[in-house]
Amino acid sequence: MTRAYNFSAGPATLPEPVLRQAQAEMLDWNGVGASIVELSHRGAEFMGVAAQAEADLRTLLSVPDDYAVLFLAGGATTQQALLALNFAAPGQTVDYVVTGHWGKTAIRQVRPYVDVHVAADGEPGGFRDIPPRQDWSLSADAAYVHITANETIHGVEFRDTPDVGTVPLFADFSSSIASAPLDVSRYGLIYAGAQKNLGPVGVSVVIVRRELLERAGQPRADIFNYASHAARDSMLNTPPTWNWYLLGLTVKWMLEQGGVEEFARRNAAKAALVYDAIDGSGGFYRNEVAVPVRSRMNIPFFLPDETLTTRFVAESKAAGLLALKGHKAVGGLRASLYNAMPVAGAQALVGFMRDFQQRHG
Ligand SMILES: Cc1ncc(COP(=O)(O)O)c(C=O)c1O
Repeated sequence: MTRAYNFSAGPATLPEPVLRQAQAEMLDWNGVGASIVELSHRGAEFMGVAAQAEADLRTLLSVPDDYAVLFLAGGATTQQALLALNFAAPGQTVDYVVTGHWGKTAIRQVRPYVDVHVAADGEPGGFRDIPPRQDWSLSADAAYVHITANETIHGVEFRDTPDVGTVPLFADFSSSIASAPLDVSRYGLIYAGAQKNLGPVGVSVVIVRRELLERAGQPRADIFNYASHAARDSMLNTPPTWNWYLLGLTVKWMLEQGGVEEFARRNAAKAALVYDAIDGSGGFYRNEVAVPVRSRMNIPFFLPDETLTTRFVAESKAAGLLALKGHKAVGGLRASLYNAMPVAGAQALVGFMRDFQQRHG
């Protein structure tokens, strides 16, 4: 069996040791005679898996004690809607900084509940840059300020945490969580779908300052209430146990590999390889994002025409480099370089890019 290099934006490549361990434990987890996916979430076995995953994630991300960590079904989009229900009064103003597709999605999820104020918008510039902080028009009375830490489709990333004063900063870290050191205490809330850097699709992580859970928010069912989930250790109902277990294995693997400092080093090396290949191609490959905010996780790039793009996708796939087709919203190509992508994968991609240019440039 050969495993290809998989550049999918999500669900994305997982570390091979994690998949092998899951395979080995599939029929009989830890000698109990059943798979972990067949055991009650309230039993000692799964409770142990869940608690270890949380403890390891807290270690990996240096999560302060006054933050709750929730493991929830529903994906990042569901969390986007729940932000307003949990933290803003009906009709209250919330500030959004839009730097790509997912910032717009986040706004769509809360419009029914709150008064959305777009404090800054990168769309007039084609989402090629992050509007400078001094140009943001933040509202003094906003319930929170929302940013997308890394825009998976447009390839735009906040390299630093913006200062937004006393209003809590909420951030969608779906495609960059654990890719580099992060000061959690600068944020009121961080959320991420797991399916890029943390594990499989089907579970989302929410890291929230506990005092924010005391906010009244809006009338909502218990299942949409973060405070209820926190009070019940994310076991208000049956949690996505299989996904939580796989997330735990992935986080453990990241700790064993050296943690976020090591991944920041590897991710910078991988991104530099690919951006250098693009910038050094004499215009054959193009990435249009301003250099200081280029994403280290998702690199959209373009060829001179559609015929070459189609050929690149087909030939790269045949060469064992999967899922390089760009998102339909922007077209072109995209390489996602999450933590589980080895440096050798980026080297293989760059080798292919140079070869493709020689043959078709
Ligand atoms: C940055 C970002 N936010 C939100 C989402 C939506 O996540 P989900 O499909 O888990 O709802 C994605 C999915 O790719 C994403 O990349």
